[in-house]
Amino acid sequence: MANPTQKHCPCSLLILAITFSLLNSATAESATYNVVNFGAKSNGQKDSTNAFLSVWSKACASATPAMIYVPQGRFMIGSGATFRGPCANKAISIKIYGTLVAPSDYHVVGHSGNWLHFDRVTGVSISGGVLDGQGTALWGCKNSAKSTCPTGATTLTFSNSQSIVISGLTSINSQMFHIVFNGCKNVKAQGITVVADGNSPNTDGIHVQMSSHVTILNSEIRTGDDCISIGPGTNNLWIENVACGPGHGISIGSLGKDLKEAGVQNVTVKTVTFTGTQNGVRIKSWGKPSNGFVKDVLFQNAIMVNVQNPVVIDQNYCPGNKNCPGQASGVKISGVTYQDIHGTSATQVAVKFDCSSRYPCRGITLKDVKLTYQNQVAQASCNNAGGAALGSVQPESCF
Ligand SMILES: *[C@@H]1O[C@H](CO)[C@@H](O)[C@H](O)[C@H]1NC(C)=O
Repeated sequence: MANPTQKHCPCSLLILAITFSLLNSATAESATYNVVNFGAKSNGQKDSTNAFLSVWSKACASATPAMIYVPQGRFMIGSGATFRGPCANKAISIKIYGTLVAPSDYHVVGHSGNWLHFDRVTGVSISGGVLDGQGTALWGCKNSAKSTCPTGATTLTFSNSQSIVISGLTSINSQMFHIVFNGCKNVKAQGITVVADGNSPNTDGIHVQMSSHVTILNSEIRTGDDCISIGPGTNNLWIENVACGPGHGISIGSLGKDLKEAGVQNVTVKTVTFTGTQNGVRIKSWGKPSNGFVKDVLFQNAIMVNVQNPVVIDQNYCPGNKNCPGQASGVKISGVTYQDIHGTSATQVAVKFDCSSRYPCRGITLKDVKLTYQNQVAQASCNNAGGAALGSVQPESCF
């Protein structure tokens, strides 16, 4: 029953279908913005801050997913830059092939708190790239105990943001903390490399606070302070496959600095190697009143290589002995498990639980632990700590 109309009908349907799919892919396709087209210069000299901020406002205003492209070369971001949301789309992907570099004069961004700061953004991903905070001179200033040094800027901060992915990013020589997540939800950071001198002050690798569902995977952190620090209000944090050292280890705390403080809950730290670090896995609180708490923490499968304090809870932190001597920490610590912790301690006491006299640590579990000091079984020390030892535990638990 071939009539011409019927014969053409499938063809026009096909054309219609193709047209629709083209239209669809055109709307779904991301708009791409190359920073160079906005005046950024790859010579490492010219300040490209405004170019980056212009690109951000374009990408943020785009109704469709946007891609920001940073080609090879060195781009000077000469002042603290805030990339603000909320944006018109929830998919901004920043692909960095080059290096963003801070001014070598630390006074320029050293007073601004943050160097690269994303605030109130949703669905931002950063992949690749090197961030060079040029912090060396500031560390020198701080280490010489001059009172005139600025605090320094955190290299990369995300605040009040969600659905953030950072992968394959390298941060070197930050003035202060390298990467901070504050007030964030659903963050994935993977393949992160942090490099700073072992003597660089306050250069924490990754700091998380007031945030939930943060995952940190497959990363390598060599720095002068904590490799990863976990502040108040962190929950559902997952850290896996991290190499730490030099540095001060992975630390929950310092907590309990304030009287009213959000607690830390449900933290997993798994498969981590600590090499020559000051601490391995640590929980630390100020020795003063607070309503803070730490509960449901699992430290699993850690290898210690010549670590000064492989397993430590310190609830008597009181720097300079100001405003806290003689007081007990109000931070309540419970439900902390140390499982499969092996390796060498650089000091005789490899396991140290120095808990609050007011609120002793409860529900500490040691399971399959073996830590040695100079080829001998190391020692454990307990103050106000209660819990259980399961499997083979060396040094023998002191509960
Ligand atoms: C703990 O956090 C992990 C993510 O890190 C999550 O998958 C898990 O459901 C949380 N557990 C509870 C009891 O909330």
